[in-house]
Amino acid sequence: MRFQTKAIHAGQEPDEKTGAVITPLYQNVTHVMDEPGIHRGFDYVRTVNPTRTALEKCLASLEGADYCTCFASGMAAAAAVTSVLKPGDHAVASHHIYAGTHRFFSKIIAAYGIIFTFVETEDPTNVRAALRDNTRLVWIETPSNPLGTLSDIRAISEISHASPSRPFVVVDSTMASPACQQPLALGADVVHHSTTKYISGHLDVLGGALLTSREDLREKFHYFQNATGPTPSPFDNWLTLRGVRTLGIRMRAHEQNAQAVAEFLNQHPRIEFVSYPGLPGHPQHELAKRQMTGFSGMVAATISGGVPAAKEFLSKLKVFTLAESLGGLESLISHSATMTHAPLSPEERGEQGITDGLMRLSVGIEDEEDLIEDLRQALA
Ligand SMILES: Cc1ncc(COP(=O)(O)O)c(C=O)c1O
Repeated sequence: MRFQTKAIHAGQEPDEKTGAVITPLYQNVTHVMDEPGIHRGFDYVRTVNPTRTALEKCLASLEGADYCTCFASGMAAAAAVTSVLKPGDHAVASHHIYAGTHRFFSKIIAAYGIIFTFVETEDPTNVRAALRDNTRLVWIETPSNPLGTLSDIRAISEISHASPSRPFVVVDSTMASPACQQPLALGADVVHHSTTKYISGHLDVLGGALLTSREDLREKFHYFQNATGPTPSPFDNWLTLRGVRTLGIRMRAHEQNAQAVAEFLNQHPRIEFVSYPGLPGHPQHELAKRQMTGFSGMVAATISGGVPAAKEFLSKLKVFTLAESLGGLESLISHSATMTHAPLSPEERGEQGITDGLMRLSVGIEDEEDLIEDLRQALA
């Protein structure tokens, strides 16, 4: 089966008992036992739930994974990854990374005696140089949020797996979705998703997922999920499954619009910098063509004139909505210096390449002409 067929059918056979074609919402906590200790595969909702199982099977099939474990948020899924580590272990992570993941690793997990080294994983030799005898985890985010830089999944997986401590490689593929990138096929051990974004696709549900074909890791993720309880609610699973059924066609529409938006901004005199993997001028366009099956819908752009110019431009937009998050049907835009990265000092922002005029566009699936007209009038 191909991608969009799997999105609609995998894990979603008609309900055995009632024949319901759409996977029912099993909004229940507990299941009857046939005998003490003998059940029909489902006992208690924290451990397992039929709607969640359907979602997990569907996501696993889309990523080409043997296993999927769903969580209540992308950050909860990241917490499950770090549960594999012990005090004294070392981890390498991308320098250009979602700010919440950086905060989680450097402020929360580092306090438990796990040492993080953040490097520019855009150059795989930086990963090689950072690996130590006790490195157990390599975490890369590609494309990165918000700058849209790429890391070479195959090269980094090969380098990591060849090192003596054989760290496992996790790819946060949230910005791509499985429709545009399948990291396990490129050698990664685990794919991480904030399903809040493209996978659920409608900006109405929070969730996360870990996908792997390594049974040892799947067991640890599931153990963590069951032991600590960051499980998504049945309704959240149902909403996410409903969203994922259109992932393939949505991503094609996001990509088509994002390419048009990136090309428009790229030739506009008020725009200093545009990052979109689908632009031939993107420094890693060749890598994008090699490792991605689509360029997704996220564009980063810097307006000249810094914060005042960005604020003026944003106030004039009529179709793009000023809001955080990404991956929904509607086009969203955020201004990094005053929104997502406001807690950082100007120096820290500078180190991360977050300039005062930088904006992140999550290009939606409205009509392309309306998006371009909106940007044109706001830049006029
Ligand atoms: C790339 C990336 N990873 C992880 C997360 C965290 O996901 P969640 O908000 O679902 O916890 C986000 C959220 O924006 C993200 O953009």
